This record gives sequence, structure tokens and C-alpha cells, in this order.
Amino acid sequence: MGKLIYGTQTGTTDEIAERIKKALPELIHEIKPIFRAGESDFDENFLILGGSTWGDGELTDDWSDFFPQLDAVDFNGKTVALFGLGDQYGYGYNFVSAMKLLYDKVLERGAVIVGDTVPLEGFEFDHSESVVDDHFIGLVLDEVNQPEMTDDRIETWAETVRNQLLSKVS
Ligand SMILES: Cc1cc2nc3c(=O)[nH]c(=O)nc-3n(C[C@H](O)[C@H](O)[C@H](O)COP(=O)(O)O)c2cc1C
Repeated sequence: MGKLIYGTQTGTTDEIAERIKKALPELIHEIKPIFRAGESDFDENFLILGGSTWGDGELTDDWSDFFPQLDAVDFNGKTVALFGLGDQYGYGYNFVSAMKLLYDKVLERGAVIVGDTVPLEGFEFDHSESVVDDHFIGLVLDEVNQPEMTDDRIETWAETVRNQLLSKVS
């Protein structure tokens, strides 16, 4: 069991967090907005971390405020999956780039990442920091332009995460 910790600037991610939890009921026992989280909230074997990209490829203010505290969290032995919200047409030069800031930090702190080979198909954008080896490094959602695709994207990704976790255990 694990926890989903997320940031948001204008509240869109609140509901998305619920929908991701619903897709992985056996893996997520609690949702925590990062503005209410402390270091002890990261004391889990499995974590889903995410939120929207703001500014110019930046984290939301709530994640930015907490970010230095991640240096006090030991991610060794923890498995992390990431998700990000963005606007591919409005900010196609920096689409969902903030997810990469979390990715780099948890990797540096020892985490194993799952759900990190999400295909780029179905998106149109010029640049994203969150593309590594021709894949997104986590679940990508665009509630501004493609809300109708969100359920399928969550479901497909959740299945991958579930399978990757199962194969790690067995
Ligand atoms: C001022 C502003 C800056 C934004 N910057 C980016 C960006 O750099 N990259 C991106 O993909 N989306 C960007 N977005 C789009 C948001 O990520 C998107 O609207 C998201 O759904 C907001 O989620 P939230 O309400 O949970 O914060 C920006 C939106 C606004 C209004």
C-alpha cells in the first residue's frame, strides 16, 4: 500500500488525484496534498507523486515550497510513479516539464521509478523536459484540451504500474 501526494495551482489536480486512486485502490490508501504533507508522509514503500506544470515548466507553488525538504527523504527501497498535468497547445514549448524535476530528485535520492515509459502518441507539442528516450517519464494528462482521454490514459497507466509492481514482488 502507498500514498498519492500531489500539488495543484488552481485545483484541477484535486479531482485527478481521486481518479488515479480509484484506478489503483489496492495500492493507494491515502491522498495528500503537498501543502499539508510532511516528511513522514513519504514513509511508504510506494508513492505516486505529481501535479500540474506552472509558470514556464515549473512546479506549482506548493511543490516548490516543499521541494528542498525532499533532500531529507531517503527514497532507497521506495518505488515511485509520477504523473503530470499540462496544456500541450498553450505551453507546447514546455509541456508537463515540471514532472521531470520530481523525477530527477527522487532518482537522485534512490527511488525506483515505475510507469515511466508512457508513449507520446496522441499528444502534440514542441518540447517537454519530461520526455526521456522517446517516452514520457510518467502519466501525462491534458485537462485543458483532452479531458475526454483522461479516463483511458489513467486506466492504461494504472495497469502498467500494477503489473510492474507485481513483477517486482514475484
Ligand atoms: C500561468 C500558467 C502557466 C502554465 N504553465 C504551463 C507549462 O509551462 N507547461 C504546461 O504543460 N502547462 C502549463 N500550464 C497549464 C496547467 O498545467 C494546466 O492548466 C493544469 O491543468 C492546471 O492544473 P491545476 O489546476 O491542478 O494547477 C499553465 C497554466 C497557466 C494558467
